[in-house]
Amino acid sequence: MSKYSRIVSILLDSLPHIKLFNGATMVIKYGGAAQINPQLKEQFAIDIVMLYMLGIKPVIVHGGGNKISEMLQTLQIPTEFVDGHRVTSLEAMKVVEMVLSGEINKELSAFLNFHGLKAVGISGKDSRLLCATPKDGGKLGYVGDVKEVNIEVVQKLLEGGFVPVIAPVASADEAHHPGFNINADTAACAIACALKAKKVIFLTDTQGVLNADRTLLKSLSIQEVESYKQKNVIVGGMIPKVDACVKAVNAGVEKAHIIDGRVEHSLLLELFTSGGVGTEILRDSQ
Ligand SMILES: Nc1ncnc2c1ncn2[C@@H]1O[C@H](COP(=O)(O)OP(=O)(O)OP(=O)(O)O)[C@@H](O)[C@H]1O
Ligand SMILES: [Mg+2]
Repeated sequence: MSKYSRIVSILLDSLPHIKLFNGATMVIKYGGAAQINPQLKEQFAIDIVMLYMLGIKPVIVHGGGNKISEMLQTLQIPTEFVDGHRVTSLEAMKVVEMVLSGEINKELSAFLNFHGLKAVGISGKDSRLLCATPKDGGKLGYVGDVKEVNIEVVQKLLEGGFVPVIAPVASADEAHHPGFNINADTAACAIACALKAKKVIFLTDTQGVLNADRTLLKSLSIQEVESYKQKNVIVGGMIPKVDACVKAVNAGVEKAHIIDGRVEHSLLLELFTSGGVGTEILRDSQ
């Protein structure tokens, strides 16, 4: 087969997926753990450009756990995790917002714009996109639970052909409040539900959800998620991720995927090849 025939054959293979996804809104959570080197970030940006050019409407929600930890360490602000959530003091909250909204959000938007998109970086505070109250009665400090989603700003951006890039910081119903640190998986879920997105995809730093023997669990039902949590197979940062998946599919998002952001072009592999990659979480009736 000549080089050109191979290209045509690849395009034809992808056609059913391209047809299926044309016009679909997809929320993509770009985990801090997967933002490990400039090359991967570059490839992520190219994948988003590809999605956009194929008629998909991507909405990016990003994390930044590693960078926040580094900055807190530099500033000697202590931090600890409970069930995958960072206990956030007032001091830490200021750093969380600085790193998420100030650094990562602007870096990602600039990168996407450099590659030809019209990306707009905002946070959950803008236009009160995400409004929160203290999680678990405040025992995690400024970690918030999303109580209200005002999705209009994201819809308007999508209608205008922009790619929203969202930092997971929420506003509070109180003047002079520093805002809330929202786990980025939880934020992606809230936004996917409000948009009635076709898919929500989480890019992280593992192959997907792994079993106790470290093998990949390719597909999980909601019941299985609960059972793996109870058996302490799913722990730490994977807990808010699977919870977000379950909530999203229960709210009508067709499928939730957890894929390996360390693999080059994992988004394209998931969306445009029959094999798919990572773990998919389905509603129990699916
Ligand atoms: N069963 C499991 N399978 C795979 N990973 C798991 C499992 N249980 C816990 N984990 C942990 O979850 C981590 C991913 O969550 P983590 O919060 O660290 O990253 P992220 O959400 O991608 O990034 P960020 O929080 O910065 O947005 C993995 O690196 C792994 O250590
Ligand atoms: Mg996380």
